Amino acid sequence: MKVVITADELKKGIAELNRPLGFVPTMGFLHEGHLSLVRKARAENRTVAVSIFANPTQFAPDEDLENYPRDIDRDLELLSGAGTDLVWIPTVGVMYPENFQTWVEVEELTKVLEGSYRPTHFRGVTTVVAKLFNAVRPDRVYFGQKDAQQAAVVSQMVRDLSYPLEMVVCPIVREPDGLAMSSRNTYLSAPERQAALCLSSGLFKARDAFLGGERSAQKLRDIVRQEIENEPLAELQYVSCADPETLAELKNEVENCLISLAVFVGKTRLIDNIILGK
Ligand code: PAF
Repeated sequence: MKVVITADELKKGIAELNRPLGFVPTMGFLHEGHLSLVRKARAENRTVAVSIFANPTQFAPDEDLENYPRDIDRDLELLSGAGTDLVWIPTVGVMYPENFQTWVEVEELTKVLEGSYRPTHFRGVTTVVAKLFNAVRPDRVYFGQKDAQQAAVVSQMVRDLSYPLEMVVCPIVREPDGLAMSSRNTYLSAPERQAALCLSSGLFKARDAFLGGERSAQKLRDIVRQEIENEPLAELQYVSCADPETLAELKNEVENCLISLAVFVGKTRLIDNIILGK
């Protein structure tokens, strides 16, 4: 496995890789969710590249960039074990040279859900992802359904800017008790880790109700809300029942929908989601 830092090293490294090339962008501190993307890329392509870059422009000043968990040695060991051919670990200076002033912005999809609470977040994501795609020139890219809105926004960017690549969205990987895997789970104390189960249990209750015939968007939202409100350590930021593609909030009966939520458990903000009816 080759590890590169500079743009020149990356260019040389990429030129040596056979096609098709699968690419998994990450911010590091890898878990099974990331590794499932790498394995899928491994299975579908001749070579696999991964980037590790905690992108400062997608964190607001009051968010947790400084404390974002990092463990590069462990990440490299895991990536090597999962069959990665090349890892790119750019510096902030490589990605954002002095006098940087160009942004990639998806206008509508970013106004709702996460975007309404984190107004500068997706501009940072799409800008860095566009730069990563330009440098790596992958044939297929792999994103997790855990960040459902990010997957929708990046898919929109890929279509709008005609990136010559295939976007693959992979299922959420959960702990055995249901908690969606996230690098941020590491911030949770033992009681908070237990309390955090209210996100997945709320979603699973909504799924069971849907499977039992419940079709009211409001009732599905209420089932999730109730589960969060029953947990004293959790504070609901939003719960949404939306069209999975447009992310528009649904009002009446639903045939298929994306239920998503953001919850503070202590100081840690967690997100999770489920697609129903597909
Ligand atoms: O999902 C992430 O880890 C990040 O948002 C990404 C796609 C690597 C861009 O920084």
